[in-house]
Amino acid sequence: MSSTSQHSNFNNPTQFVEGWYWALPSRKLKVGKVKAVTLLGRNLAIYRGVSGQVVAVDAYCPHMGAHLAEGKVEGDGIRCFFHNWKYDDRGICVDVPSQGKPLPVCIKTWQTAEQYGMIWVWVGEEKPSSLPFVPELEQVDCDYMLGTRFIKNCHPNVLLINAIDAHHFNTVHNLPLEIVFDSQDLNKAITFSNTTRGGDDSWLIRLIRPRYRNEVTYSMCYWYGSTGTVTLGPDFLHFYIIFALRMIEGGKTEGQTILVTPKRPGCLGWGVNRGLLWLTQQVGNYFAKGDTQVFQTIQFDLKTPTKADASILQFIQHVNRQKALSWGTWEAIDSPETLRDRHSSTSLML
Ligand code: FES
Ligand SMILES: [Fe+2]
Repeated sequence: MSSTSQHSNFNNPTQFVEGWYWALPSRKLKVGKVKAVTLLGRNLAIYRGVSGQVVAVDAYCPHMGAHLAEGKVEGDGIRCFFHNWKYDDRGICVDVPSQGKPLPVCIKTWQTAEQYGMIWVWVGEEKPSSLPFVPELEQVDCDYMLGTRFIKNCHPNVLLINAIDAHHFNTVHNLPLEIVFDSQDLNKAITFSNTTRGGDDSWLIRLIRPRYRNEVTYSMCYWYGSTGTVTLGPDFLHFYIIFALRMIEGGKTEGQTILVTPKRPGCLGWGVNRGLLWLTQQVGNYFAKGDTQVFQTIQFDLKTPTKADASILQFIQHVNRQKALSWGTWEAIDSPETLRDRHSSTSLML
């Protein structure tokens, strides 16, 4: 299937991959507060109940459609501002003051999680898969810092492939590295890794390997086609940057970088980590800077792939194999394969 096929997920403004998407930073949602969040075209009210748990519900009250973010958090439930109906943390109506008893209605709730200082929402029908993580840090307790928040004039998939666009490391980032990626398709995630050589003319490479003349690890793990976790550095010091992206209106991107480092013990460890997170941010900025303008104007269409674009093609195929949902409604979209299977079984029945 071509990357521009009508049904494919890649670079498609009308559909996206089922998965975990970032909603808002954890620290922006205090206990007892509710926020309006628009995620992938759907309006939500996200609140933190007294137990500290985050609850995400569809925004509009089933009574008359008031936005529930205008309401008040009560216990672990939410009470609509307009006529004071109350819903519990499963979205079930538990109080209608004018009736003196609840009515059999409910609002749709969505699974949430908190990781790396961010609130994530599972957008999908099936049981949630793993939250995005950096492969080396899956079981590791980490310090983190939110980096830059940004908007780009292109699709999240297009922005993400920048990290495995081997050729552009030379032409844009002045990293004369020889990059060939090994990839591992993990079903929901895909990783591209390599050990690079060369690059001594670059200040970045000199910075991350003082006295270190051998290899520098560079690997990228993609989750749901929208979040990329980067691992970069020599063996003795890896930097970790998460590019958490989501599609906004018109197939554009809203993103947030998250800088991560493993926890180090004591006050000294805390201080060292502040410094390391700051340094990680500089590394992230180095990569973000050179390409900024091209993502404002690109009309992505990989018409003439070369050998150096092999990883990009692999990523496109991976994204197109994932389960698709519709922008705004979050309804499942049948893949061309499912449609074909269904069609052939119907013809058999006839
Ligand atoms: S609109 Fe919510 S209670 Fe009436
Ligand atoms: Fe780049």
